[in-house]
Amino acid sequence: MHSPIIKWYLLSTIFLLDISLNFINCQTCTPLNTWPIIKPNWSNCSVLSDGPFTINNIYAECMFLNVPISWNSTNLTTCSDTIQIYVKRYFLLGYENISHHFWRIPGGGGIPVTSLEIEAVTVVGALNGSVSVYVTDKRSVGQSSRLECPTSIVHNFTGCLSFIKANEYRLKQNTYTNTAHDLEYVLNVVMGKNRENIKPNQRVILMGSSQGTYLLQRYLHVTQESEQVDAVIFDSVLPPDTTRLVYGDKYLNYIFLDLFTRCSQDQQGCAKYFEDNNPSRALYTYKMHEDFFDNSSCLYLLKITTTELANKMSFILYPEAMQLLPALIYRINRCNQDDQNVIKYFSNVTQPPDQDGAVGYSILVELNNNLAELWAPLKVDEKNPTCEYLKGISSNTFTSTNVMPDIYCEIEERKILGYPTDQYYRKYPTKQTKMPMLLLHGDMDQALPLPIPRHFFKQYSMVNPNFIYIEIPRTGHTALGGSPMVDEDGTCGWNIAVSFMLSPTFEPDRSCLKKISPIDVAGTTTKTKQIAIQYFGTDNIWGTEKPNGQ
Ligand SMILES: *[C@@H]1O[C@H](CO)[C@@H](O)[C@H](O)[C@H]1NC(C)=O
Ligand SMILES: *[C@@H]1O[C@H](CO)[C@@H](O)[C@H](O)[C@H]1NC(C)=O
Ligand SMILES: *[C@@H]1O[C@H](CO)[C@@H](O)[C@H](O)[C@H]1NC(C)=O
Ligand SMILES: *[C@@H]1O[C@H](CO)[C@@H](O)[C@H](O)[C@H]1NC(C)=O
Ligand SMILES: *[C@@H]1O[C@H](CO)[C@@H](O)[C@H](O)[C@H]1NC(C)=O
Ligand SMILES: *[C@@H]1O[C@H](CO)[C@@H](O)[C@H](O)[C@H]1NC(C)=O
Ligand SMILES: *[C@@H]1O[C@H](CO)[C@@H](O)[C@H](O)[C@H]1NC(C)=O
Ligand SMILES: *[C@@H]1O[C@H](CO)[C@@H](O)[C@H](O)[C@H]1NC(C)=O
Ligand SMILES: *[C@@H]1O[C@H](CO)[C@@H](O)[C@H](O)[C@H]1NC(C)=O
Repeated sequence: MHSPIIKWYLLSTIFLLDISLNFINCQTCTPLNTWPIIKPNWSNCSVLSDGPFTINNIYAECMFLNVPISWNSTNLTTCSDTIQIYVKRYFLLGYENISHHFWRIPGGGGIPVTSLEIEAVTVVGALNGSVSVYVTDKRSVGQSSRLECPTSIVHNFTGCLSFIKANEYRLKQNTYTNTAHDLEYVLNVVMGKNRENIKPNQRVILMGSSQGTYLLQRYLHVTQESEQVDAVIFDSVLPPDTTRLVYGDKYLNYIFLDLFTRCSQDQQGCAKYFEDNNPSRALYTYKMHEDFFDNSSCLYLLKITTTELANKMSFILYPEAMQLLPALIYRINRCNQDDQNVIKYFSNVTQPPDQDGAVGYSILVELNNNLAELWAPLKVDEKNPTCEYLKGISSNTFTSTNVMPDIYCEIEERKILGYPTDQYYRKYPTKQTKMPMLLLHGDMDQALPLPIPRHFFKQYSMVNPNFIYIEIPRTGHTALGGSPMVDEDGTCGWNIAVSFMLSPTFEPDRSCLKKISPIDVAGTTTKTKQIAIQYFGTDNIWGTEKPNGQ
C-alpha cells in the first residue's frame, strides 16, 4: 500500500506540518508569487539503495524537497497541496563542492532513478570525481511521494479505478509541464537561483534518455526565458510534434526488416545460409507457413503462435542480441530436432521485462503521461485509431510488442487517465539560444527510427546554431548504452557524451564511431556465443547442418 504523503507548507511558521484538508481555511491563506527556494539539505544515504553505503570512496547524499502539486501561479497559495520530490547525488568524497553537476534523466515513463545507480557510480569513478551525478525521481515515482495503484493497472484495471478516482486532482496535475517545473525548482535549490551555491568553473549539464528527452524538452521550453544549465545531451530523442507511441510496432518492424537487409548484404556471415541468398524470402515464408495451420509450420508443431514469437523477438531486438534473429528464422524454416530445441529454449527464456513489479516503478504515472501526450493524435481533428486497427498493425509485423492493443488501447477508451494538454504541447521552444546541445541517436533505433531524430534536428537547429546531431551506426534504441565497440570497454555513446561534457568548447570527440562493433550475424565472436548460450542454449547459432546449397 502506498498512501501518498501530503504536506501543507505554511509560510507563517517554519514547520512543515501534516494536517488534513479539513483544517484548512483557504480564506486565511496568503498567496505566493513564487515558491520559496530553500537551502539544500543533503544528508548521507547509501550509494546503492539496497547495497553498500559507499563504493571506492564514492558516496551519496539525498534530500527531499516540497513542491506544489500545481505550479500554476494563479493557484500558488499556501493552500497548495504539496508533494515531496526525492533528490540524490553521487560524488567522490572531497569533490562534492568542486565537481561538475551532471543531471541524469532516465528513460521510460515511470521508472525510478534507482535504475541509474550503477551507472552513476561507474561514471563518477571513471571520471575520477571530476563529475558528480545528480538525479531526481519524477513526481509520483520512486521515492518522490508515490502515486501507484495498489495492484497493477495492467493486470487488473477495474481494481485500480477507485484509487484513480481518489487521486483525480493529483493525476490531472501530474503533467510533463509540472514535472519540468519540479526539475527547474530542484536545480534552483541545488545550485542557487543565481548559481550562488556553485563556482563559475562548475558546469551544470542535463542528459535525458528516450522518454527523458521529452521531459528535458519541456524543461527547456518552460525555462527558455531563464536558462539554468550550461549544456544538454539528448540520448535517443522523442520530438514533441511527431511522437506517437501508437506506431511503436510499425517502427519496430522497420528495424527488423533493416536487420534482414543487413543480413542480405553480409554474404559470408548471413545470406549464404538462405535459399538463393534471400533472407527476406525466408522471412515471409516463415510467416506464411504459420497461416497454413498444418505441420509445414514449425511453430505449430511446437504449439507457439507467431504472435507470441513476434513478441518474444521484440524483447531481444537490441544491439546486444539482435544478431541472433536471422538464425532464429532460418532455424524455424529448417525445423530439425536441434532447431526445435533451440526454438523451445528461446521461447522459454525470453520473458517480458518485469518493470511492473520493480520497486518504485509507477505504471500509473507512465500511462497517465503517455495517454495525455505521447499517445494522442497529432492534429486536433484527428482521432486515435480503433483497437481493432491497432491489433491489425501489431499482427501485420514480424516482430511486435502488442503493447498498444493489449494495454494502452483499453485504458484509453475509458478516458479515465490523462489530462488536458497545455500551451507547450507539440511545440518547440521559440526563443533563440546558443546553449550547446548534443543529440545522439542510433541508426537502428527500433523505437524511434532515423526520420524522427532527423526531423527533430531540423526543427531544433532553427532556434539553436549550437545543436550537434550525431548518428551512431549499427546502434539501437538509447545510443548511450547500445553502441558497443570492438576490443574496447564501454560504449561509443558514452565516450562521445563525456568528451562533449568535458571539452572546453563542448566539442564532442567522434573518433569512436569507427570502432563500433559490426552486427555479428555469423555468430562467431565470443560475445555472440555467450548471448547465444543465453537465448538458444547453444553457442552454435546456425546449427550443425551445412548451409543451403553447399
Ligand atoms: C534535513 O534533512 C533531514 C533528514 O532528511 C531532516 O531530518 C531535517 O528535518 C531536514 N532539515 C530541514 C531544515 O528541512
Ligand atoms: C556522512 O558520511 C561521511 C563519510 O562517511 C561522514 O564523514 C559524515 O560524518 C557523515 N555525516 C553524518 C551526518 O552522518
Ligand atoms: C491556471 O489555472 C487557472 C484556474 O484553474 C486556469 O484558468 C489557467 O488556464 C491556468 N493557467 C495555466 C498556465 O495553466
Ligand atoms: C487549487 O489548489 C487546491 C489545493 O491544492 C485544489 O483543491 C483546487 O482544485 C485548485 N484550484 C484550481 C482552480 O486548480
Ligand atoms: C562542501 O560544502 C559544504 C557546505 O558548504 C560543507 O559543509 C562541506 O564541508 C564541503 N565539503 C568539502 C569536501 O569541502
Ligand atoms: C582518471 O584517473 C586514471 C588513473 O589515474 C587515468 O588513467 C584517467 O585518464 C583519469 N580519467 C579522467 C577522465 O581524468
Ligand atoms: C480486481 O480488483 C478488484 C477490486 O480490488 C477485485 O474485486 C477483483 O477480484 C480483482 N480481479 C482480479 C482478476 O484479480
Ligand atoms: C504431416 O501431416 C500429414 C497429414 O496430416 C502426415 O501424413 C505427415 O506424416 C505429417 N508429417 C510430419 C513430419 O509430422
Ligand atoms: C524454462 O526455463 C526455466 C528457467 O528459466 C527452466 O527451469 C525450465 O526447465 C525451462 N523449461 C523448458 C521447457 O525448457
